[in-house]
Amino acid sequence: MPSTQSRYHEVYAGWMADPAGFWERAAREIDWIRPAETVFDRDAGIYGRWFVGAECNTCYNAVDRHVATRGGQAAIIYDSPVTGTKRSITYAELRDEVATLAAVLQDMGVTKGDRVVIYMPMIPETSFAMLACARIGAIHSVVFGGFAAKELATRIDDAKPKVILSASCGIEGARVIPYKPLLDEAIALSSFKPEACLVFQRPQLACALVEGRDRDWADAVAEAKVEDRRAECVPVAATDPLYVLYTSGTTGIPKGVVRDNGGHMVALKWSMEHFFGVKPGEVFWAASDVGWVVGHSYIVYGPLLHGCTAVLYEGKPVGTPDAGAYWRVISDHGVVTLFTAPTAFRAIKKEDPKAELLRKYDLSSFRALFLAGERADPDTVKWAEDILQVPVIDHWWQTETGWPVAGNPLGLGALPVKHGSPTVPMPGYVLEVLDEGGKPVAPNTMGAIVIKLPLPPGALPTLWQADERFRESYLSVYPGYYNTSDAGYLDEDGYIWVMGRTDDIINVAGHRLSTGGMEEVLASHPAVAECAVIGVKDALKGEVPCGFVVLKSGIDRPPETIEAELVALVRDRIGPVAAFKLAITVARLPKTRSGKILRGTMKKIADGDTWSTPATIDDPMILSEIGDALRARGLPG
Ligand code: COA
Ligand code: AMP
Repeated sequence: MPSTQSRYHEVYAGWMADPAGFWERAAREIDWIRPAETVFDRDAGIYGRWFVGAECNTCYNAVDRHVATRGGQAAIIYDSPVTGTKRSITYAELRDEVATLAAVLQDMGVTKGDRVVIYMPMIPETSFAMLACARIGAIHSVVFGGFAAKELATRIDDAKPKVILSASCGIEGARVIPYKPLLDEAIALSSFKPEACLVFQRPQLACALVEGRDRDWADAVAEAKVEDRRAECVPVAATDPLYVLYTSGTTGIPKGVVRDNGGHMVALKWSMEHFFGVKPGEVFWAASDVGWVVGHSYIVYGPLLHGCTAVLYEGKPVGTPDAGAYWRVISDHGVVTLFTAPTAFRAIKKEDPKAELLRKYDLSSFRALFLAGERADPDTVKWAEDILQVPVIDHWWQTETGWPVAGNPLGLGALPVKHGSPTVPMPGYVLEVLDEGGKPVAPNTMGAIVIKLPLPPGALPTLWQADERFRESYLSVYPGYYNTSDAGYLDEDGYIWVMGRTDDIINVAGHRLSTGGMEEVLASHPAVAECAVIGVKDALKGEVPCGFVVLKSGIDRPPETIEAELVALVRDRIGPVAAFKLAITVARLPKTRSGKILRGTMKKIADGDTWSTPATIDDPMILSEIGDALRARGLPG
């Protein structure tokens, strides 16, 4: 479907013809301390490395270099309906805050290459913390606040941080969530112990500090300010890691996705202009959490690298105080572009189906809505288009890629929209759909979506200290390709349709979770003989987990009691973010004759989709037992 208005086809073809030249030109938008000797070195790293030989500093590019030209412009607008706070931080102020905090980190012994775990809520200090690490070449690893102590401990053991930055509490709607007990428990659980913690005391809930280990954030920063100590930007190699972000893998052990400095800056800067169509100085809002990749790329780094004003919103789409919250933020701050997950719009639609609250606000600044993190269902996209009357753009990417793989590039001129498809691959990505044997399938045929190697700048070069796991997880199944683990198809116009995962990952309210990880938790309960967790359709969250358990013989406690214990156990081990609320006791699980649990068929039954009895099934009767158990809980079955 060619478009006469969009430059997309021309730009994509230009990239295809000369990828290194394309990225070399894009790299001119970045201030380098030393330019690259080789734009792409195919012999370096696992599949090649970008901007080899270059030296740079991400904090300098995101903050310092804007001070001369836009020092008085807001870099961050913190809007927190849950605390009744609005705070604007200019680029000049941001430079001072970040340089001071970076000096505090240096006082604590943090140097280039050290890891720093950040376990914090949505407050400006979290952005300062990430940028302060970047400034001194330390590698940050942000852990989402909705994870439990055990998950934090796993990440501490893998990242081995010298220091942890945290806060006394997070605020979830009307609830204050103490973070410090989770931090203390995580450090008690982990084998690796950080040398120190810097703790930001929030007025909503102060916490006790551990003597000899914890330092009060405000005191340390105040002291450094009095002494006028600020850290300079430390030169790092473009290929040095900027951060490690853990994401769900197919087991309970998360994968540490590595992001480097140089390629990341080049790709994000390119995407801000050419994909999102945003100009420096404009107000960009990604309504996510800094604990997720969306937050890393588009609450913190992308907008700041581009000289935009980034909105940092501590609130929800509904309930803080109502379903007009997003419209209020857009209107209060002159937001031009909002990026969020479809689930947020489903939540708003549920509360205010006619979008009556929208009428209270002036959205004249608003140009486009971008949706990602989960499949954008056509109903939600249409509803958003109707009420907002601006382009609504579905785009598809992953923690691993760090920026959109496919989307409708507003900055290059939008292509015709097909509801349900995130449109076309961005320059940097060649998409193919393969069958189980690794052969390309015909258009409109479902298969595994893969990306031809090499991955573009910004995408992960490897997993943190786990090159072999990187190869095994992503590169070994289809040689020459990166396996996205998403299934879908390309249509006759080259539009990609992303329909679901091929592994055990489920997507709950835009949050990526491993059902395998949940099964590990259920199986650890002494009463559980075996279990299976599947994602079932949910009108609000897209999917929610549902666990089936078979109890050991001789368990005389009521199944309801054990089910409640299991729900509590998942919350305790993985965290509230797992949204695990449904454990169902069954007599047996459906399996193939070789003993493989038929999770796919169970999911179809639970979703009310058409299903057939697999030929390899051991005992077909068990499927009707599963249906009965689901119906007893009000699910389709
Ligand atoms: N710290 C502590 N707990 C957290 C948390 C955090 N940072 N984030 C979420 N949680 C908790 C929630 O309070 C909830 O707890 P509960 O079971 O006690 O109610 C649980 O984790 C599940 O959270 P969530 O799945 O987000 O459900 P919700 O009902 O609180 O909110 C939405 C639903 C749709 C409003 C919310 O998910 C949302 O705004 N999503 C869109 C934006 C987004 O963040 N997308 C993610 C990536 S782009
Ligand atoms: P995460 O790594 O948390 O960003 O999750 C990435 C996964 O979310 C992808 O592999 C997809 O399964 C899913 N996803 C993200 N965006 C989209 C989208 N626009 N359409 C369909 N699935 C998506």
